[in-house]
Amino acid sequence: MIASKIFPYSLTLLLPIVFTFIISNCRAEEQNVNPGINNYYYDAKFEQWLATFESPGREVYDKKAAIVREAQIKPGMRIADIGAGTGLYSIAFAQQTGEKGLVYAVDISPDFVRNIERRAKNQGLKNIKGIINNQKEIGLPQNSIDLAFICDTYHHFEYPLTTLQSVYQALTSGGKLIIIDFKRDPHISTPWVMGHVRANKDKVINEVESIGFKLTDDKNILQGNFFLSFSK
Ligand SMILES: C[S@@+](CC[C@H](N)C(=O)[O-])C[C@H]1O[C@@H](n2cnc3c(N)ncnc32)[C@H](O)[C@@H]1O
Repeated sequence: MIASKIFPYSLTLLLPIVFTFIISNCRAEEQNVNPGINNYYYDAKFEQWLATFESPGREVYDKKAAIVREAQIKPGMRIADIGAGTGLYSIAFAQQTGEKGLVYAVDISPDFVRNIERRAKNQGLKNIKGIINNQKEIGLPQNSIDLAFICDTYHHFEYPLTTLQSVYQALTSGGKLIIIDFKRDPHISTPWVMGHVRANKDKVINEVESIGFKLTDDKNILQGNFFLSFSK
């Protein structure tokens, strides 16, 4: 009699703990979905990649103004540019968010991060902070950002669910996640994209929503890339 009264109560208390344990262990066991894809980035040299990332003919370079406009950056925002590369968007966002805002330029390549900071300094931008991260987390504290921006980088994530979990934790409640990446569609994509990019748009949406994000927008402003917005 006493046991039956106590048991449901303790079960109620235990269930969330058990579920959290199961979920965190599933995440810990995520397999590398892209082994080797970033080998050339870990010791990448900024000068060698500048022309690749910041030259006409690359859609996310050519459409930078439209992308920044659609990202709806507001003064004072705290933004993480995850997979910042040579800083194409970190610099643009820092100009928009102003002195009261902050842009974290997050990348696995130390030379990219160092050079983004140098670039920012040369341009008198004091609101960019470089973060050298690893393949499993973005290296930012809980509730530290209002916007996570991932351009041409999602397909480079080796542990996408684990990394997304870290993005989720870093965002404030109601915070926004933007993912821009190659459309992977056998009818329109080049053989290179089909071989290089792991997931198509629907799969990306499924993965991101499995973490707890909600799809809020799918902007049709690019040809070879999709532009998705999610909220926490
Ligand atoms: C194709 S570049 C895109 C750079 C930049 N976003 C742009 O569009 O110009 C991909 C970048 O993602 C970085 N990267 C790969 N995996 C990453 C991860 N898990 N976290 C942060 N950066 C990552 C690479 O070092 C590289 O700088």
